[in-house]
Amino acid sequence: MREPAVPVRLGMVGGGAGAFIGAVHRAAARLDGAFELVAGALASTPERALASAAELGLPRGYPSWQAMLDGELALPPEQRIEAVSIVTPNHLHFPIARAFADAGFHVVCDKPLVHSSAQADELVRVARERGVVFAVTYNYSGYPMVKEARRLVRDGVLGPLRKVVVEYRQGWLATPLEAGGENRQAAWRTDPARSGPGGAIGDIGSHAEQLLATVTGLEVEAVRAELTTFVPGRALDDDATVLLRFRGGARGVLLVSQVEIGAENDLRLRVHGERGSLSWRQEEPNRLWLATLDEPAQLRSRGQPYLGAAAAAASRVPPGHPEGFLEAFANVYAGVAAAIRGDAGADYPGLADGARGVDFIEAVVASAAQGGAWVNVRPRA
Ligand SMILES: NC(=O)c1ccc[n+]([C@@H]2O[C@H](COP(=O)([O-])OP(=O)(O)OC[C@H]3O[C@@H](n4cnc5c(N)ncnc54)[C@H](O)[C@@H]3O)[C@@H](O)[C@H]2O)c1
Repeated sequence: MREPAVPVRLGMVGGGAGAFIGAVHRAAARLDGAFELVAGALASTPERALASAAELGLPRGYPSWQAMLDGELALPPEQRIEAVSIVTPNHLHFPIARAFADAGFHVVCDKPLVHSSAQADELVRVARERGVVFAVTYNYSGYPMVKEARRLVRDGVLGPLRKVVVEYRQGWLATPLEAGGENRQAAWRTDPARSGPGGAIGDIGSHAEQLLATVTGLEVEAVRAELTTFVPGRALDDDATVLLRFRGGARGVLLVSQVEIGAENDLRLRVHGERGSLSWRQEEPNRLWLATLDEPAQLRSRGQPYLGAAAAAASRVPPGHPEGFLEAFANVYAGVAAAIRGDAGADYPGLADGARGVDFIEAVVASAAQGGAWVNVRPRA
């Protein structure tokens, strides 16, 4: 058990100069004072890694993640990092997460977790054996109104669920942005060796699957998928249409695109039950629509006293003072800090979410390869 006032010593792999999500992780980890970033191997070359660490003023900059692992293990336990955040392109998640978890460090890894369900199995095994906390930054599940949606479903307000529609629409890959290699985020995301078997379905479809799973508690039993590559020459899908069959009989649709011009980060969820429906949209995250058979439709709002405990705990400022992406991301880190301190009820997306996401991507890719046949998603205990 840790005292809450003592920050967790954190290291970071990836997130050097010019990277996208590493800086978001740093802001999220810092927001509640629960973490202190003390070490980093921030980039793919030793020179850039050390320069990025110096720029951030990190106490310990390392030229590579292997050097960071060795260097930290050589320190006395009370000085070395306790947890590592992995914010590299996807193909590096597996070796780095495996090595740090195996050495007994807690892990925060970005999504999609790894490239294959066999790799996910291996991480599950190592994390269990070592007893480390392992989080996967499905940050959209950190929003207060997503936690409220989850509560409404759990409390039975919607009744038994019938149908779920989840959409994640972006437009930034509508042109061959990866050609020429200047946009590094586009370059690795469209390269199967670095991105994994899915393009848009892996990059943002994994968020969509996790959002629907966390809110509804439903498990996808089978998928029927069409993956499309609209931009000529691109090696991975940039658009996906997926029919979902859930265990227990509910049905769903998952739509993902990175070529819808004008769409920014438009993640939406609609859940329909026998007694009511709810609807939430990431670009307006402080509100949640609820409609039931018995009452007029409600627009529920973050910070209000009628919300459940999880939504209340996930909120930092009063209603009408907008909270957004960074605060939701910080809620994931707050859950990880609580778990590291030994709170068995800590609320954060974990290895089970990450592994399930990998199984889901695999099933979607297999279905699309079979012309849209129904393919079962591998069940996980
Ligand atoms: N949760 C989210 O909302 C979200 C959003 C964006 C990205 N992501 C995920 O975060 C990860 C990074 O994405 P990004 O957009 O920030 O990519 P990016 O290309 O902007 O940054 C990747 C960073 O990793 C570094 N790197 C590469 N190889 C390395 C190595 N061997 N050792 C150390 N560092 C190395 C690069 O130098 C760079 O600093 C991906 O897994 C992506 O799917 C998640």
